[in-house]
Amino acid sequence: MDVFHEKREIRSFLNQERSKDKTVGLVPTMGALHQGHLSLVSKSVSENDVTVVSVFVNPTQFDNPDDLEKYPRKLQADLDLLKAVSEDIAVFSPAVSEMYGEKITSEQYDFDGLDKVMEGEFRSGHFEGVGTIVEALLNTVTPDRAYFGEKDFQQLQIIKKLVAKRKIPVEIVGCPIERETHGLAMSSRNERLSAETRLNAGFIYQTLKAAKEKFGTESAKYIADWVRSQFNNQNELKLEYFEIADEETLTPVLTKQEDMKYRGFIAVYANEVRLIDNLRLN
Ligand code: PAJ
Repeated sequence: MDVFHEKREIRSFLNQERSKDKTVGLVPTMGALHQGHLSLVSKSVSENDVTVVSVFVNPTQFDNPDDLEKYPRKLQADLDLLKAVSEDIAVFSPAVSEMYGEKITSEQYDFDGLDKVMEGEFRSGHFEGVGTIVEALLNTVTPDRAYFGEKDFQQLQIIKKLVAKRKIPVEIVGCPIERETHGLAMSSRNERLSAETRLNAGFIYQTLKAAKEKFGTESAKYIADWVRSQFNNQNELKLEYFEIADEETLTPVLTKQEDMKYRGFIAVYANEVRLIDNLRLN
């Protein structure tokens, strides 16, 4: 498996592959890979001749220095997991200086308000950081397709907006959420939970599923109040937000409309670990 650390190296490798008319898929990640990431990688491998997996903990998307410092980094284990999927994957694992030079700052974007709600409201500057690194990766790899998980549904919609606004010629492919057996959405952050808390955090998905059941008959406000009350009865899990929003614009639903697609979005602290999840409601 080829591992590249410099933009120049991976560009020259991909130029050679493209001269043989090969298609390229990109899976951007921050490493500490799990089955959620690997489902994106497998999809890319099945749909493209060459798959590039980037492994880069992007400093500009962290609003909390402690979270950045504690983010798990384990490149060798990641490479072993990727090898088991396919030997033909190319890994791009640059240093921070390779992607940012001397100035570790974000670009400014207009995402038409998609970045102002939920994750954008609670994590200041997060989506500018995500946009900056994803745009840089797309420009470096120039893939035919790039794969993103619905686990970070708001991120997926923002990347689609970025690509449309900047006219980047790439197909953005959204992929379903992979879950642990008790329902918790897989995440690199789950490793920071104790075994007991990790099991207990299955409550987040159970609550989303119950919200979905209620969505047919109850108002959005009723459901939001009900979700809040469920978490008030919990010791370990602290609700940060629960929103029911339209999938396209991410604006909160006030009155349900037949032809709209709605999702429940949730962010919860399990001790100091921040977990997010979402579920289509109709
Ligand atoms: P990271 O959290 O490592 O996730 C990389 C990709 O894997 C994202 O598209 C994410 O949505 C997807 N993913 C994570 N957990 C998943 C799960 N349980 N099921 C399905 N897909 C899942 O998201 C990022 O990194 C960064 O913001 C990045 C886009 C790489 C930019 O730095």
